[in-house]
Amino acid sequence: MTENGNVDLVEAMSTQRAIRRLRPDPVDDEVILKLLRLAVKAPTGSNQQNWEFIVVRDPKVKAGLGKQNRRVALPYLKAGKIVKRRDEKSLRLIKAVEWQLEHWDEIPVIIVPCLRGISWPLPWIYKSSRYGSIYPAIQNLLLAARAEGLGAALTTFPLWNRVAARRILHLPLHVEPIACIPMGWPVGKYGPTTRTPVEELTHLDHYGNRAYKT
Ligand SMILES: Cc1cc2nc3c(=O)[nH]c(=O)nc-3n(C[C@H](O)[C@H](O)[C@H](O)COP(=O)(O)O)c2cc1C
Repeated sequence: MTENGNVDLVEAMSTQRAIRRLRPDPVDDEVILKLLRLAVKAPTGSNQQNWEFIVVRDPKVKAGLGKQNRRVALPYLKAGKIVKRRDEKSLRLIKAVEWQLEHWDEIPVIIVPCLRGISWPLPWIYKSSRYGSIYPAIQNLLLAARAEGLGAALTTFPLWNRVAARRILHLPLHVEPIACIPMGWPVGKYGPTTRTPVEELTHLDHYGNRAYKT
């Protein structure tokens, strides 16, 4: 915590994680606006700022996204339970996702960051610039939620069926939904998160030449 009661940036970055178990208590628009104002401080390619955000509160729209999520997640979880049956960490993750699916309709608010413009089937470099213009804002949103004491989790399963997602959200053709972020006050606690040490992933000048010794 900083002197003025805010969560220190390093603390927020170190403890931000996917929080799926959320309380049904409401989250005020004032808070959501604060998060979105911080989200759009992020960079975009050529400073296009070609983002739009759908704040979902309508139970029917939430239920529609929940149905889409379950369609993709349930077979995925079923396979995961078999493949990862000896992996405690993966089984914990599966349980958290199951909890989220069961309580989806009680989630107070879901934010759907979108990109304006059409995703042309062009080379990867184009894709990298396009999707790279929304993920910094998404990460800002997640960090801002963490700083506010809110729980959030980045999901994409609810949008795998693009046609259905567009229908549920009434999206025009030139607006592409990118992620679906359920948000609310958390049941449990934040991180710390566990990640592979950077020493194992960093190379000096050439791939394979370890930059930092463990
Ligand atoms: C591109 C992307 C898509 C994701 N899609 C989903 C999803 O559909 N459902 C879900 O429960 N989590 C999803 N996640 C969350 C990851 O499972 C989560 O970030 C990862 O397990 C790390 O969790 P932790 O931060 O709590 O350690 C997604 C994350 C990313 C970056």
